[in-house]
Amino acid sequence: MIWSLQAAPDLTDKQFDQWSKLLEERAGICLSDQQRVFLQTQVSMRMRELGHNDYTQYYNRIVDGVSGKVEWSVLIDRLVVKETSFFRHRPSIEFVKNYLSEQLQANKLSATFDLWSVGCSSGEEPYSLAMVMKEAFTEAQQTPYFGIIASDISRAALTIAKTGLYPQRKVELVDQHYRENYFTEQENGRYKISPEIKEKVCFNHANVLNISELPSINLDVIFCQNMLIYFRRWLRHEILNAFVERLKPGGILVIGLGEVVDWTHRDMTRIAADDVQAYIRN
Ligand SMILES: C[S@@+](CC[C@H](N)C(=O)[O-])C[C@H]1O[C@@H](n2cnc3c(N)ncnc32)[C@H](O)[C@@H]1O
Repeated sequence: MIWSLQAAPDLTDKQFDQWSKLLEERAGICLSDQQRVFLQTQVSMRMRELGHNDYTQYYNRIVDGVSGKVEWSVLIDRLVVKETSFFRHRPSIEFVKNYLSEQLQANKLSATFDLWSVGCSSGEEPYSLAMVMKEAFTEAQQTPYFGIIASDISRAALTIAKTGLYPQRKVELVDQHYRENYFTEQENGRYKISPEIKEKVCFNHANVLNISELPSINLDVIFCQNMLIYFRRWLRHEILNAFVERLKPGGILVIGLGEVVDWTHRDMTRIAADDVQAYIRN
């Protein structure tokens, strides 16, 4: 029987270990035993597309040279959870808006206001942030002078993000004010992010584990939600420590509520708030 019609062979314990180690080493993502079927399905589907029928053979291909790197970037896209939505955690997004409004009111903005959205997936998060930041500048009657760097490991997610086109089901959940001001309906029923928002966001492919791929400028806000949860505790801490180095004094770090429970840093103070998890750089 030809391979494409056969059921995928089961991953042996050794193969599961080998693949999950690779995923953790390269992307930080730590799979539980329950995700074995998921890993097997995704890897075997890709193998099928390439005509491989042996997990070890395909593994050797992935770890081999430049072509292995190219293939890895296709596979990793299938293995990451890219779920996201506009204004996903509204209190965190409002928190950034309020922080910016306070800076504007106090005339504290000396230069451009820069934010980094880490693990931005298909762009809904950085675009939501750009919309509220634009509003903060408008309310303060100031020219919008801000930029957002948005990074992700998934090239496929970034491709969607860069087009800025979204299906109706994603946009209909956005508040009317934002929907009417920052989206235009296209002939195909999709919605396009307005150019004034799009031009504020610069998407880049980066693995948060590779320090050299991370922004080298100092930031006012680092926003990282629903990504660290896939990493081990010690790695979450290391990444947060690396974020601190990239924050301006007085800059803030906003992470997903409850994603990290026991992290402290001598240069950071936790901001008292029930519905957001944020820290300010001393
Ligand atoms: C569940 S999505 C969260 C998207 C968005 N932050 C939100 O909260 O809606 C997690 C994102 O993290 C990205 N990601 C996972 N590991 C990564 C890594 N090592 N470096 C950069 N991005 C990563 C995934 O590709 C995915 O798009």
